[in-house]
Amino acid sequence: MLRKLLGGGHRHAHHAIDRWAWADIDLDALTHNVQLLKKSIGDAELWVVVKANAYGHGDVPCAMTALNAGATGLLVALAEEAVTLRHAGIDEPILVLSEQPRSDWQTMIDHGLIFTVYNIETARELVKLVTPKKPVHAHVKIDTGMNRVGVDPAHANEVIDTLIAGGVIVDGIYTHLACADEPSRPENSRQLDAFDSFLSALNARGVNPARVHAANSAAALLIPRSRFSFVRVGIAMYGIQPSALTDLNLKPVLSLRARVSHVHKVRAGEPVSYGARWNAPADTIIATVPIGYADGVARRLSFTGGEVLIGGRRLPIRGAITMDQLMVEVDESVKIGDEVVIIGGQGSESISAEEIATKIDTIPYEVVCDVSVRIERKYHSAN
Ligand SMILES: Cc1ncc(COP(=O)(O)O)c(C=O)c1O
Repeated sequence: MLRKLLGGGHRHAHHAIDRWAWADIDLDALTHNVQLLKKSIGDAELWVVVKANAYGHGDVPCAMTALNAGATGLLVALAEEAVTLRHAGIDEPILVLSEQPRSDWQTMIDHGLIFTVYNIETARELVKLVTPKKPVHAHVKIDTGMNRVGVDPAHANEVIDTLIAGGVIVDGIYTHLACADEPSRPENSRQLDAFDSFLSALNARGVNPARVHAANSAAALLIPRSRFSFVRVGIAMYGIQPSALTDLNLKPVLSLRARVSHVHKVRAGEPVSYGARWNAPADTIIATVPIGYADGVARRLSFTGGEVLIGGRRLPIRGAITMDQLMVEVDESVKIGDEVVIIGGQGSESISAEEIATKIDTIPYEVVCDVSVRIERKYHSAN
């Protein structure tokens, strides 16, 4: 069923007023990525990770587009994120990836969300909420070596049995890999071996949950044995390579753009921005761009070779990036109103989230998640 995209993704800020800084979200690129990923994962189903406002891309429009393109389930980090999707009319399965505060549980049941459970106390409390009217669904998460959340395989049976005995429908068992982007690391096979032996013992006891899953984007593409029933794909769907070893023809979904708001001359020796940390070595033309670190442009880029695109050319950021504005060294061809690309393409040039991540010593996930709620997402689709 095709869904209407209007009205989604704007819950945090009011964008009736135009601003010379925005994010373009290319939903056709997302569709392309979903279709490509589906072809790359064998028989596994594709469930997509839309937590954190779809990694900054806008959760409702991205979730709907992914489902229309063939994804069959959704994953989020928080109960609140799942409720937003339900309120938008999405009724596909949604798994909440970690345990939530007790005060959220009834809301989760009312919205038909799938719980993740890994603590025995949680299992004991959750069964108390089972009623004949509203089924409670849970996936049990096994910690095979990531050491973030999950139950140790040695204690997992108690959690599973408590849930089943109390009437919770345990329709999934899963784990998460710590090093999937480096598939040859021994941690991967160690974790998957531990998971496999736990599953065999479970099946031998006659417990056969409908769904088994372990793979994030990198594992889905690089470690076929991790695919099981469905893969949990996040970053790749947004067009960002999940590993240095993948070279799928993914298309970036998000671009971050602005317009030049001011152009002025700075004489040789004059400083630019806070701390006067950059001084013009010669007479220079500086363009000011109304986007800053409060919008998600990392201030650390100021002095690590940060660049933007204007007129299809790479131009250097000069001086410290401020909360709402940054400065760029330009030439006389640049005018107020010219488009500036912080992330994305212009002409034949492009700046990727991966490039920015490398410059500021982080991962591209953080770069796109950091695009703040102050930035309006403009959704584009030919359909
Ligand atoms: C449990 C779990 N599964 C899957 C994913 C998706 O990972 P990726 O974005 O690398 O595909 C995440 C994201 O952090 C996660 O926490």
